[in-house]
Amino acid sequence: MNPFTSEESQKLPNHVAIIMDGNGRWAQSRGKPRLFGHRNGVENVRSVVNTARELGIPYITLYAFSQENQNRPVAEKSGLMKLLEEFLKLELRSMMKDGIRLRAIGDLEGLPPFARKAVEETIEQTKENKDWNLTLALNYGSRQEVVAAVKSMLQRNDIDPESMDWQNFSEHLQTRDLPDPDLVIRTSGEFRLSNFLLLQAAYAEIFVSPLHWPEFDRGAFIGSLKDYIHRERRFGKTREQIASLT
Ligand code: FPP
Repeated sequence: MNPFTSEESQKLPNHVAIIMDGNGRWAQSRGKPRLFGHRNGVENVRSVVNTARELGIPYITLYAFSQENQNRPVAEKSGLMKLLEEFLKLELRSMMKDGIRLRAIGDLEGLPPFARKAVEETIEQTKENKDWNLTLALNYGSRQEVVAAVKSMLQRNDIDPESMDWQNFSEHLQTRDLPDPDLVIRTSGEFRLSNFLLLQAAYAEIFVSPLHWPEFDRGAFIGSLKDYIHRERRFGKTREQIASLT
């Protein structure tokens, strides 16, 4: 059952970006290895993506692996990459059925070849899908994304510095064909952005849940959206200016 009235549904975010934190702590608090947490985290990815579709939220972006996560133990990294490959293989059929287009942001060259191949193949196979948009941030870092954008701009000689504005600059980011996130959710009670979409989230609302990612279930996701729809987004304007626009 849709928990939102039709008036509330109009206010739902277009793009939700999620920092899926706390898999390790969730597992360790149950006396299980960290990978058990990641495996349950993947199950939760399915649940949140399904809920987003059911509610009509067209863009979901998930921080699945940061550049800083490269410092994790080798066994954990390779376990995560195998889970990613397994997820993509298992989900391809439903992505095609449901019209989900997969994208990735981040430095895919830094992934193990088997994982990179699975990601690139899924991106290719789903590229004509138009209904829903799932983006995985993989080996991603916002600062690195900005540096790569500036580097590629400096290598060109057809860019007029005078004409540069945010609109132009954002065309050089990996998120160029995504809208800015409206809502950034972070689980596990940490109040940090951890190098995730730092520029794109300039005006995003931030919601921090105390729950670890594997326990951030449908109800918790809906709770974060209920909170979001009551936020007043002013984008630097005054309350009166916003009221006069509506
Ligand atoms: C944070 O928990 C989570 C990660 C570093 C990885 C998130 C990845 C997944 C949920 C699985 C792969 C994703 C897809 C889309 C298949 P943590 O390990 O930092 O937890 P901790 O802070 O408690 O240690």
